Amino acid sequence: MKELIKRLTEAYGPSGSEEDVATLIRDEITPYVDEVRTDKLGSLIAVKKGSNSGAKVMLAAHMDEIGLIITYIDKDGFLRFSSVGGVFTPRLTGIRVLFADGKIGVINMESRNSNINDMNKMFIDIGATSKEDAEQKVSIGDFAVFRQDFVDLGQRVIAKAMDDRIGCVVMIEVAKRLKSSPNNVYFVFTVQEEVGLRGARPSAYTIDPDFGIAVDVTSTGDMPEAMTMAVSLGQGPTIKVKDGSVIAHPKVRNLLTETAKELNLPYQLEILVSGGTDAGAIHTTREGVPSGVVSIPTRHLHSPSEMVDVNDVEGAVQLLTATLEKDCSRLVEQKAMDDLSF
Ligand code: CO
Ligand code: ZN
Repeated sequence: MKELIKRLTEAYGPSGSEEDVATLIRDEITPYVDEVRTDKLGSLIAVKKGSNSGAKVMLAAHMDEIGLIITYIDKDGFLRFSSVGGVFTPRLTGIRVLFADGKIGVINMESRNSNINDMNKMFIDIGATSKEDAEQKVSIGDFAVFRQDFVDLGQRVIAKAMDDRIGCVVMIEVAKRLKSSPNNVYFVFTVQEEVGLRGARPSAYTIDPDFGIAVDVTSTGDMPEAMTMAVSLGQGPTIKVKDGSVIAHPKVRNLLTETAKELNLPYQLEILVSGGTDAGAIHTTREGVPSGVVSIPTRHLHSPSEMVDVNDVEGAVQLLTATLEKDCSRLVEQKAMDDLSF
C-alpha cells in the first residue's frame, strides 16, 4: 500500500488538472471493477455491480490537490501567483513548486513586506534571467503544486497531497478487497474538491445514489498547543459527525459506527470545526442524499508534508469494506426517521 501512496501523492494534480492522477487510478482499479468511465468534468467513476435490488452507494475521494496559479510575470522574470484552494500563505517561503512540465521554482517574499499573509508580496523564482526568459518557460494561467518527495517513516508516512490521494488509495484498496457485495458501489474519484466541492455534485446527480460516503483527511488535536480536537494520529479512522459542509446523516453515521464495533476496530468520532468534504456537495444533490464521511487523521494539513499513520489507513479500508459487504438496501428502506438503528 505504501508504494501506491507514494505513486499517487507524487503525481501532479492541482484542481482542474487531475488527468495524470486519473490515469494512475484507472490503471490500478480497472481489474477489480465492472466498469470505469469519466464524467464530463473529469471525475473517474468505477462501478462494482451488486444485485439489481441492491442499494446504490457512492463513495467519493478527491483527486485534486491545492496549488498555485501564475497571474503575472514581472519585468525581472519573477512570477506572481494566486492560490488554488486553501493555501496557507505564512508557510510558503522557501517552498519548492512543481509545474505540469516538471519545471521547479522556489517561493520567496518581498524583503520589505511586513504582512506575511499577503500573497501579493510573494513571488516564484524559476531561475529566469529576464522577463523574456521567464515567458519562454511559463505562461499566465499555468498551475503549480508543492514539490515534495514521499517519505516512509515506518508506521507513519509523509507526502504532499495526502489530501486526498490517501482517500483515493483507501477506495482502490476497498475495490480490491470487496469480493461480493449486494450493493452497487460507485467509487468516484472527484475533481475540484479543493476549490469548493465542484466535481462531486454533478457525479452525484448522474449516479443518483441511495446514500454517499466521502473518504477524506481530517485534522488532529495531538500536536503541541494544538487546537482542542478529540482526534489523534494512530487511534483509528474517524467517523464524521460534523464539519463546515455537512452534518453526517445519522443513518450513515450509525451504519459506520455499528460496523466498526462489530469488527472491534478502533475509530474516532470527528467534529472538524472548519473545512469540508465532498459529502457537503453529495448530500444536497437532487432531493437530498443521506451522507457521511470516513476520514484519515492527518497532521500538517495543506502543507507540503502531510503525515498519516498507516494503521489508520488500514482501519479505514477494513471499515469501508465491511460496511459495503452488508446489505445496505435495509438502510434505504428505513424511511422512518425515528428508527435510526441499522
Ligand atoms: Co484539502
Ligand atoms: Zn480533502
